[in-house]
Amino acid sequence: MKEKIQLTQYSTKSGCAAKISATDLKEIMKEVPLGRVDELLVGTEHGDDAAAFKINKDTVLVQTVDFFTPIVDSPYLFGQIAAANALSDVYAMGGKPITALSLVAFPPKLGHWVLEEILKGGRDKIEESGAVVVGGHSLEDKEPKFGYAVTGISHPEKIVTSADAKIGDKLILTKPIGLGILATSLKGEIITEEEMMDAIDNARTLNEKASEVMIEVGVNACTDITGFGLLGHLFIMLKASNKSARIYTKKIPVYPKALELAQIGFVPAGTHENIRFVKNFIKGEPAKDNVLMDILCDPQTSGGLLISVSSKKSDLLIQRLDEEGVKTNVIVGEIVKGKEGTIKLT
Ligand code: CO
Ligand code: CO
Ligand code: CO
Repeated sequence: MKEKIQLTQYSTKSGCAAKISATDLKEIMKEVPLGRVDELLVGTEHGDDAAAFKINKDTVLVQTVDFFTPIVDSPYLFGQIAAANALSDVYAMGGKPITALSLVAFPPKLGHWVLEEILKGGRDKIEESGAVVVGGHSLEDKEPKFGYAVTGISHPEKIVTSADAKIGDKLILTKPIGLGILATSLKGEIITEEEMMDAIDNARTLNEKASEVMIEVGVNACTDITGFGLLGHLFIMLKASNKSARIYTKKIPVYPKALELAQIGFVPAGTHENIRFVKNFIKGEPAKDNVLMDILCDPQTSGGLLISVSSKKSDLLIQRLDEEGVKTNVIVGEIVKGKEGTIKLT
């Protein structure tokens, strides 16, 4: 094995959220209206996970891009997580990934072996998904960054968006939350990579099985939990669907170590922005608990799917997730009547 490297020390921001805040991004995109063509089934209007472009009556292209700075120290693991994360937006829409283009920013002084390991981790995950890396682009940068533009395919009638959640639906989450807090603590050298291995294992696990099961059972809406945190992504889904939700805060799966660290204040830079994004829409007594809010708005990388499924299919969905080895499959809330975007914490 090569010498050890602490990749997280090369990223300027901590956690999973070195990104433009949802609030700012919305403002900026308002100034840059995008064109529409009839073939574009899903564009940027609702903040969906990927674009869906119909190429013929049976086939839709599902396209997405995602890249970010290291959230773990081991180059190979970083590559795997970056790939699983990029693929996830295709899975969230129920697509099957077919090709990937890599995006690389790299400081040459780190040494070739580091980039080789990142690329190997990424390639192995892309291949595990059944897709293939077909090219990419690289440039020199002070800060390492890595990810992929992924293209998948689906059927026009099988595309799952964030815009069709229905009243009475159950909300099912397929991975625990808290990775941003753990990554921040790793960068702060408060914990070691070994101490967050359960979260790393989840982050590098593909959302493929969860996505396949969701298509098989038939669901109303889906998104994946990434940089805007559980509440941020739920909020985007509720806005797109014109609905409101109730969240069972005691049911939400959280990495135990992340809970401990949040209590002593190890929270990523982006959490505050995430809270600001949803704040006016959050109701209920638990919202007064700052640590809970830090966790519910913790930016994730390669988080789980949040699936909105009719209550009569929810048991079947959970059973099938179980059978397919998706370890986390919890009902964390439901879609209820109420003002659009409102999230009641119970
Ligand atoms: Co997404
Ligand atoms: Co994305
Ligand atoms: Co080029």
